[in-house]
Amino acid sequence: PVASVLELGGVKIAKDDVLRDDPTNNVPDTIFAKLGLQLHRRDQHPLGILKNAIYEYFDTNYSNQFDKFDNLSPIVSVKENFDDVLVPADHVSRSYNDTYYIDSQTVLRCHTSAHQAEILRRGHTHFLVTGDVYRRDSIDSTHYPVFHQMEGVRVFSPQDWEASGTDGTSYAAGDLKKCLEGLARHLFGSVEMRWVDTYFPFTDPSFELEIFFQEKWLEVLGCGVTEQEILRRSGKTDNVAWAFGLGLERLAMVLFDIPDIRLFWSSDERFTSQFSSGQLGVKFKPFSKYPPCYKDVSFWINESFTENNLCEVVREVAGDLAEEVQLIDNFTNKKGMTSHCYRIAYRSMERSLTDDEINKLQWNVRELVQSKLNVVLR
Ligand code: PHE
Repeated sequence: PVASVLELGGVKIAKDDVLRDDPTNNVPDTIFAKLGLQLHRRDQHPLGILKNAIYEYFDTNYSNQFDKFDNLSPIVSVKENFDDVLVPADHVSRSYNDTYYIDSQTVLRCHTSAHQAEILRRGHTHFLVTGDVYRRDSIDSTHYPVFHQMEGVRVFSPQDWEASGTDGTSYAAGDLKKCLEGLARHLFGSVEMRWVDTYFPFTDPSFELEIFFQEKWLEVLGCGVTEQEILRRSGKTDNVAWAFGLGLERLAMVLFDIPDIRLFWSSDERFTSQFSSGQLGVKFKPFSKYPPCYKDVSFWINESFTENNLCEVVREVAGDLAEEVQLIDNFTNKKGMTSHCYRIAYRSMERSLTDDEINKLQWNVRELVQSKLNVVLR
């Protein structure tokens, strides 16, 4: 049973305020149920342990100068989430396919950057913001529609870079990379890492840090030198700043050897009890590995079909039993009709599933795919 009134960042929110039968709202029950859980504030949860370890790095290296926020409401305005950090009007992240909208002006934040501008405006020059963030997405072992980020921002004044003989932007970029490499060493000791140039609307230059995990390069954070316009609007015309946003789950998976992102939500004590020390250094021991069961579904798509919509239907039916949804066949016939075949992997982290149970799930997925997505099953 889901509470009908939530308290989020000191504000009371009724269920009807978030879940409304209204075309400007695309928040499903399964997402509403995650609001207010604040896994990052549990000291004996891998995400809380990681948050505390990052705090410790900043407290030690910057003599407690960083102000910390970890209880800001995830319900924010479109302005805070996008406009204030200069996300262009036509950027894909604003679409209903990518973001959860409560109404046309209010979203579940899709990044902790949503709080940058306001905290800068309030005069903070060193801060960390941790919180749950929400994105409509595909299904696999490293993606989940709710995850946690930590944002870091540091503002410099002219005297910080003038003595160095470089310009403010190069100075901030150098300081940023040094800071984050130090953080990675603090957390991992040694791990294979690389910097990749990238683009964010709110930073220039922009970089991504990737870490090698399970045979793949995993993107763990984005960062860069803050766009001058953001500082200017917050009344800081002479300053330069850096910002980063890191995904806590991605880092925690590598750090604690957690093989699947769904485990963070598990209340199975065989998971939770492994983190009771509240300390780094734990390696997760899988309590057992149950086999996945694969089921395929094929249909003719229409123009409005998206994989994110399909994944939401699958989660609505199977919840955390859905491990992966993968496109395995895609063709267009002579009449121009396009067919997709998706393979769904069902697997519980906690028990073995019966054939009967999986068949029912698959049957319900087929029904709902048809009625909600208007596709034609084959
Ligand atoms: N907000 C970005 C994301 O969610 C991360 C980021 C934060 C990048 C701050 C640069 C600066 O992907």
